[in-house]
Amino acid sequence: MTENPKQYLSRRRKEILEEFFDYLRIPSVSTQPERRTDARRCAEWLAAHCRKIGLETELCETDGNPIVLAHTPKAAGESRKRRPRFLVYGHYDVQPAEPIELWKTDPFEPAIRRGAVWARGASDNKGQHFAHLKGVEAHLKTGTPLPCDIAFVIEGEEEIGSENLVKFLRRNRRRLRCDAVVVSDTGMPAKGLPALTYALRGVAALELFVSGPSRDLHSGIFGGSVENPAMALCRLLAKARAEDGRIAIPGFYDDVRDLSPAERRQMRRLPFDAEAYKRLTGAPALFGEPGFTAWERRTARPTFEINGLTSGYQGPGTKTIIPASASAKVTMRLVPDQEPKKILALASRFLRKEAPKSVRLRLAVGHGAAPYYVDPDSPFCQAALRALKQAFRAEPVLLREGGSIPVVNEFHKQLRAPVLLLGLALPDDNAHAPNEKFDLTNLRAGMELGAALWPELSRAARPAG
Ligand code: BES
Ligand code: ZN
Repeated sequence: MTENPKQYLSRRRKEILEEFFDYLRIPSVSTQPERRTDARRCAEWLAAHCRKIGLETELCETDGNPIVLAHTPKAAGESRKRRPRFLVYGHYDVQPAEPIELWKTDPFEPAIRRGAVWARGASDNKGQHFAHLKGVEAHLKTGTPLPCDIAFVIEGEEEIGSENLVKFLRRNRRRLRCDAVVVSDTGMPAKGLPALTYALRGVAALELFVSGPSRDLHSGIFGGSVENPAMALCRLLAKARAEDGRIAIPGFYDDVRDLSPAERRQMRRLPFDAEAYKRLTGAPALFGEPGFTAWERRTARPTFEINGLTSGYQGPGTKTIIPASASAKVTMRLVPDQEPKKILALASRFLRKEAPKSVRLRLAVGHGAAPYYVDPDSPFCQAALRALKQAFRAEPVLLREGGSIPVVNEFHKQLRAPVLLLGLALPDDNAHAPNEKFDLTNLRAGMELGAALWPELSRAARPAG
């Protein structure tokens, strides 16, 4: 009796979990230089794993962490030209686990509790692309033919802006050509409610350094006669956003595309409970730009956020000083049709103009990523929706999401292929936070999704045949 992919996945459930655990044990944190060798080890583990499951695999060097490129073997007797080709993108890098003391179990020693796997990177993003790998493995190992060629591009620098992958894409445009790109690195609004994300916010990063006196000064001897850099930085940052949440940088909203009434109506139909949302976030009240719902503000409106703020004495007790310097890390989330370069220029000009002369301000521009939008009525989106419905046995919803995946827009631009965002993470999966998890039912649905997805997408790629 030959096995089908679903039976294969059920029979190998235990081994699959063990492999997933091995993958999660590698602390591939991209933002910490001391984790570089771990990131490389992770790429090597992944490449070896791709080979083991029957993919032709290459480890591609970059100026940073390597990219794993793996594809299904040429189908015997098939003319390659006629087969549709899809690309699956994912990232093996993870966010730092700190603060470690808030984790119930070790972030790099996966544990199963309440029907989920708990570990850093479980849902963002190791579990999500691992599920696609397992789905393809199940086809290859059971001799179940795939209707298309599939290539995996799994990088190690998504969480720091994907700059090396963008360069790699530009250089390997021909090699990576495809009919569509599949990305599972977003979320679904609730358990059992699958989603296709048709828009992502972009991002633009900026760091501010304010300096004043040449060293920390006694705040009693000097206070009141020289400006305090921490105070100046706070006042400057406060000017960038009005109290009600509207961004006060001139020109900031110029390119923001209005939401259509139909889209706003559709968003209001999504399950959203303000009280549950408060509990989920722990915030005492919701906040944001007037005239928009919380859902609209978190997915379809731009933001200006301080991500980190540093100055002065941080130890126990008091220390009466005027700190010599203060700095802040800022990112802005962008929506169609805002451009990162233009927004960074507007923000820099504003901050320079508003900075008081009593301190020096230095700005360092960081990574940027354009927002993404795909027409949800397009044939590939419709095909993906049909596949989600089959895999989850539930009617999928259409979503805009607030997070960013820097390379998504580049895939669209460089490969001229639509990107289908089929997220498998749940709102309480704790991405970027302590106690990250990935739901086991979503792991299974993700592994089984391919059985419907690849045929549906292949039909959409060749509507005539
Ligand atoms: N998986 C997230 C992006 C995401 C999360 C999209 C939830 C939609 C919903 C990704 O790993 C991520 O965190 N991206 C960063 C990119 C940034 C560093 C350029 C982000 O959004 O902060
Ligand atoms: Zn992330």
